[in-house]
Amino acid sequence: MTTINFSARKISNAGTAQTQCAVVPVFTRKQLSNAAKQVDKSCDGVIFATLKLGDFKGEVGQTAFLPGSGNIKRILLVGAGSPRKLDTEAARKILTALYSALNGTQAKEATVHLEELAGAKNDVTGFVEQLAQTLTSKGYRYSETVSKPKTPLSLRKLVVNPGNALSARATQSALDCGLAIGNGINTAKELADLPGNICTPSFLAKRARKLGREHDKLTTSILDEKKMQQLGMGALLSVTAGSDEPAKFIIMDYKGAAASKKPYVLVGKGITFDSGGISLKPGAKMDEMKYDMGGAASVFGSLSAITHMQLPINVVGIIAAAENMPSSSATRPGDVVTSMSGKTIEILNTDAEGRLVLSDALTYAERYKPQAVIDIATLTGACVVALGGHTSGLFSNQDKLAEQLLAAGQAVSDRAWRLPIWDDYQKQLDSNFADVANIGSPGAGSITAACFLARFAEKYPWAHIDVAGTAWSSAPKGATGRPVALLTRYLMDRAASGK
Ligand code: BES
Ligand code: MN
Ligand code: ZN
Repeated sequence: MTTINFSARKISNAGTAQTQCAVVPVFTRKQLSNAAKQVDKSCDGVIFATLKLGDFKGEVGQTAFLPGSGNIKRILLVGAGSPRKLDTEAARKILTALYSALNGTQAKEATVHLEELAGAKNDVTGFVEQLAQTLTSKGYRYSETVSKPKTPLSLRKLVVNPGNALSARATQSALDCGLAIGNGINTAKELADLPGNICTPSFLAKRARKLGREHDKLTTSILDEKKMQQLGMGALLSVTAGSDEPAKFIIMDYKGAAASKKPYVLVGKGITFDSGGISLKPGAKMDEMKYDMGGAASVFGSLSAITHMQLPINVVGIIAAAENMPSSSATRPGDVVTSMSGKTIEILNTDAEGRLVLSDALTYAERYKPQAVIDIATLTGACVVALGGHTSGLFSNQDKLAEQLLAAGQAVSDRAWRLPIWDDYQKQLDSNFADVANIGSPGAGSITAACFLARFAEKYPWAHIDVAGTAWSSAPKGATGRPVALLTRYLMDRAASGK
C-alpha cells in the first residue's frame, strides 16, 4: 500500500510557493484569508472571479478546480461552509469532498492552506489530524486477490500550511497521528476484506506474531486449542468444534508505560467465517460473514496505530479467533457447555457464537487486572436494525467509560450510541438446563447479547461495541476499518490524561 507523505510547512507567500495543486478552503462568508488572496493574486484573480460568478458558494462538500499560473499548476477550492459550524461532522464532509476531488486529478503533490480555518471555532488540530486520517484511509485499495487493483490515488505528498492557525510543530504532530490512525484503519480494512479461506484463525495468529516482531514494545503470544482446553475455555471451543481450522487465542501485549501500570484491554471477536454452524444461516449475503472478524481487525488496527504513536500506556489486545462451521463434530442446539468462568451455557442457537468466544476471552482478561476492558464485535443483526450503518452500538457497566468512548467517537466522526443493559433484560436469558442460555427470548437482540457478555465482565469496568452495522458496507462491498478511529482516540485521550 502506497501512502501519502504529510508535511507541515509555514509558507510566507502562498502565491509564490511551488505546487501542483493549491488547496484553498473557502467559507460561505466569502472573505478570503491572506493565503487565498496571495494565491488569487498570482493566478490572475481567478479565485475572486469565480466567487463573483456565484457558482462557487463555499458550501460544505463543494469543490472546484481552477487553472493556476506561475508556480501554481492548479487551484482547488474546497467549500468549508460557515466558520461557526465547522464541527467534526462538517470536517468529515469537507475532507471527503477534498479526497474525491484529489482522487480525480493527476496531481502527485498538493499544498493545503489552512489559515482560513484560524477563524473557525473548531479546534484546528483535530481538523489536521482528520485530514491525514481521511486521505490515508480513503486511499485504501483492496489488492490481495485481484489481478488489477483499482487505480490508486495519484497524490504522493501533501504539504499543509497552517498559516497563523497553528504552529508548524503542532501541525506536523497532528498529521503524524492522523497518518497512524489512517494506516491502522487500513490494516483493519485489509484483514477484514480478506476472504475466509485466506484469513483463517491461523492467518490472524501469524499476523499478530509479525506485528510483535516489528515493534519491540509489543509481545505476541498464541494459545492453541490444547491450551484453551487446559484453561477450561469450553464456550470458545464449542464454536470451533465443527471446523477443521484450529482456533487461536491471540494475545498482543503492548507496553508503552511502566509494567506496574494497569493495562487497557481490547477484546476482538475473530470469527473468520460465520456460517451459523448447525443453526445454518440462509444463503443470501452469507459471503459477508467473512467480516465476522471485523472486531478482531479493529484490535489489530488500533494496536498498530498506538504502537506507531508510541502511546505511554499499556494495552493488551486479545483476539478470540475461530471459524463457525457445521459438521458432525459441530455443537448442536441444546448442548450445554462449561465456560472458563465456570458458568454453564445452554447453546440454543449455534449462530449466536460471538458471545460464546467472547465470554471466555472476557474471563481470561481478568488476569490483567485491567483499568478497562472493551470488546468489539460484529455481534448482532439486531444492532443493524436498531442503528443501521452509521452508528455502532455501545453497552457498558460503567457510565464514565461509556461517556469517554462516546466522546472519542464523536471527536473522530466514528460515532457510537449507548443502549441499556438493565437487569430487566437478564431474565430473557434464563435457561432450564444451564446457568444461562446463549440467546434471549424475542425482543432487544443486541441488548440481550450484551447482557450475556456482561455476566462475564463483572470484575472490571467493561464496554462492548457492537459493530455489526458499521464494520463493513454491503454496497459497495468493503470493510470500513471502524471503530479503529474511536478506539485509538479513546486510548490517546487516556494517555493524555496520564492514567
Ligand atoms: N455475526 C452475526 C451477527 C451479524 C449478522 C452481523 C448479520 C452482521 C450482519 C452473529 O454471529 C449472529 O449470527 N447473530 C445472530 C444472533 C441470533 C441467533 C440470536 C443474529 O443476529 O441473527
Ligand atoms: Mn452467528
Ligand atoms: Zn457471528
